[in-house]
Amino acid sequence: MALQSPENRLWWREPIARGELLWIIVAFLWGLFMFFMMIYWHLEGKQNLSPESYRVDPENYLARAEAWAEKYKIGEEGDTGYPVVAPPPGGDAYLVARTFEWWPVLQLERGQSYRLHLSSLDVQHGFSLQPVNMNIQVHPGLEHIITITPIESGVFSIVCNEYCGLGHHVMTGRIRVVEPGQGAAAVPAQGG
Ligand code: CUA
Repeated sequence: MALQSPENRLWWREPIARGELLWIIVAFLWGLFMFFMMIYWHLEGKQNLSPESYRVDPENYLARAEAWAEKYKIGEEGDTGYPVVAPPPGGDAYLVARTFEWWPVLQLERGQSYRLHLSSLDVQHGFSLQPVNMNIQVHPGLEHIITITPIESGVFSIVCNEYCGLGHHVMTGRIRVVEPGQGAAAVPAQGG
């Protein structure tokens, strides 16, 4: 505890102990190594996303997302009233983040690629896809476009992992991945 001033006012000029110096060198080299590993993982490990990002007016984004959803809507999610939207393989998919929801529910086909657009209408949210643990910051005024290819069918949850207000903990969404060729199949009656 340093409640009083150190006796030796020039404590920071004392020679560094051998063990401590060694530790500083090891930590520095490890930091450098991990820095270059980030670049390596970006290229090789499929760990980091490479999104395109554009400035966007939130109203413009919402208008495009709604027009797109209107076009490819195939039903509603259970009794939630949320539209389920199945975009054509290779096409665009939109996700709107706003307090406190992810809109709409997406239905994608396994093995197909989609250009996923992500933006927020109000404050910063965090897109976290579970259980695959893919994470993207979602900002208002910024549109990210990420090419995604689902490799597994099933129901995936989106949770918000950036504190955004009182309803943060209920801000969840859903992405359904169906087997190839079932893109326009009827939506299951009740959510999984
Ligand atoms: Cu949206 Cu937390």
